[in-house]
Amino acid sequence: MTQLADLDTPAALLDAPRLDRAIGRMQQRMDTLGVALRPHVKTAKCLEVARRQRAAGARGITVSTLKEAQEFFAAGFDDITYAVGLAPQRIGAAFDLVRRGCRLKVVVDSLAAAAALAEAARREDASEGLRPEVLVEIDTDGHRAGVAPEAPLLIEIGRMLGDAGLLAGVMTHCGASYECRGAAALEAMAEQERARCVRAAERLREAGLPCPIVSVGSTPTALFARSLPGVTEVRAGVYVFYDLVMAGLGVCAPEDIALSILSTVIGHQPDRGWVLTDGGWMAMSRDRGTQAQALDQGYGLVCDEAGGVLEGWIVNQANQEHGIVEHRGGPAAAGDVQRRFPIGTRLRVLPNHACATAAQHADYAVVEGQAVKARWPRFSGW
Ligand SMILES: Cc1ncc(COP(=O)(O)O)c(C=O)c1O
Repeated sequence: MTQLADLDTPAALLDAPRLDRAIGRMQQRMDTLGVALRPHVKTAKCLEVARRQRAAGARGITVSTLKEAQEFFAAGFDDITYAVGLAPQRIGAAFDLVRRGCRLKVVVDSLAAAAALAEAARREDASEGLRPEVLVEIDTDGHRAGVAPEAPLLIEIGRMLGDAGLLAGVMTHCGASYECRGAAALEAMAEQERARCVRAAERLREAGLPCPIVSVGSTPTALFARSLPGVTEVRAGVYVFYDLVMAGLGVCAPEDIALSILSTVIGHQPDRGWVLTDGGWMAMSRDRGTQAQALDQGYGLVCDEAGGVLEGWIVNQANQEHGIVEHRGGPAAAGDVQRRFPIGTRLRVLPNHACATAAQHADYAVVEGQAVKARWPRFSGW
């Protein structure tokens, strides 16, 4: 069997026990709250990971590209929500998935997009085609897309979709949860996400329109919600690996993070306290998500080869193929870096943003202790 020591670097490692614990924790939480979990598979973009989520009880998946939808559908996942506003040129591909038997849900937040879908549905009807279900995106936090829950536009979009037999419900993603500080703020944001999305659903129903699906979710709000009355499903994604941004929010500990980048020490600048590795930004991504948090983790938090956090050591700078590992306390705190990290030393680096770091790699080396159990491929592209 392959061992960690046999792997070339940089390599994306997936710690199998941590992955399973993360999947179990979120599923148990959703079971307790009485809602379905529809994981966002854009973090891992990996069939094996999604199969583990499904085996643990997840119902359906969420995707961020139609490429993911096509890949997962081909592998037997047939209940898919494409949770990015549907661009006009993708309507044909969406209908094609439905025609092939996929229970596809798509998202709109404008009359123009709703009208284009209604028009496509009318054309399909002429040739006895099926149609995707449509969710109206609700803006519950001013963060990104969506219609305000109280806006007259919500009912106008609902009517247009309803008349075409397309309306299936509402969805929201509370991205502002990533800016919350402290448990109380996260709990309040989770309740805001729930209440505003449920309110939008009630308005549609009061207007005589169908709204069976009420879909909310981000990892922080999913884990901090106290109760979810009115919600039918939660879409959480990054929980499957966690990352340093989640650790900075208090959603997990660094020791829960399942994804890390195995790197090799290739040089030193002893006077500056620098350790050079082959894990630059091509391996870590350029994401600096912890920069805005209380503890800036640079390009990643350094661990030993077995995954134990090396307190104070971070990838503080990154070139394309060079990582510069430094101690937070500067050269004085770093000590004799050549002795501590000889050339050839292997390190694991925990990422700021798992989705971005994973996207730099073609596959995962799935590890349990020192053993590499499998290589799991991941998708990329659109
Ligand atoms: C629309 C949508 N739903 C759900 C999620 C999952 O959020 P998280 O990764 O915080 O769990 C995302 C993440 O970006 C998203 O964009």
